[in-house]
Amino acid sequence: MPAATVCGPRGWAGGRIEGSVAVNGSCASIDGTAELRWLLVSDLLRGHGAGSRLLGAALGFCWDRGFKSVHLWTFAGLDQARKLYDSAGFLLVEQHPGRRWGIEVLEQRLELDLRATPLPSAQCVQLRRA
Ligand SMILES: CC(C)(COP(=O)(O)OP(=O)(O)OC[C@H]1O[C@@H](n2cnc3c(N)ncnc32)[C@H](O)[C@@H]1OP(=O)(O)O)[C@@H](O)C(=O)NCCC(=O)NCCS
Repeated sequence: MPAATVCGPRGWAGGRIEGSVAVNGSCASIDGTAELRWLLVSDLLRGHGAGSRLLGAALGFCWDRGFKSVHLWTFAGLDQARKLYDSAGFLLVEQHPGRRWGIEVLEQRLELDLRATPLPSAQCVQLRRA
């Protein structure tokens, strides 16, 4: 899935991209699993529901494409992101110490079994395929 972008509550702000999410389905033909990447919302829009809408859109895409599951890598301490993932039903399946940008972190792999998940509500998101 190409990167999806989201506009602000008042529409496009000068055409700027204010958030993103992507789905890597390149390994899905092997194991039916897609990878969620680059969920990010600008400081301007955080806390207004854009992150949950982007996540819903990405999961709706995965569901529509028939992927069996979705996984992602994050790390401990990204509490807002973790709250979103937990709400969507992702489960922690693996964690280990690692380094991100030169900093020691606890890397965490989360997975969502789409076969056991109802269709995510992706309808309200305003998407623009990059
Ligand atoms: C994670 C992220 C995408 C969430 O985007 P967002 O647009 O702020 O998310 P939402 O507005 O949909 O809020 C999602 C939840 O987080 C909560 N939340 C938002 N900002 C918060 C804050 N500063 N403190 C605590 N909770 C917060 C919201 O209350 C909401 O929970 P609720 O639905 O129970 O009310 C955004 O914070 C971000 O870009 N973070 C940096 C990048 C990052 O960590 N990406 C994930 C990498 S794995």
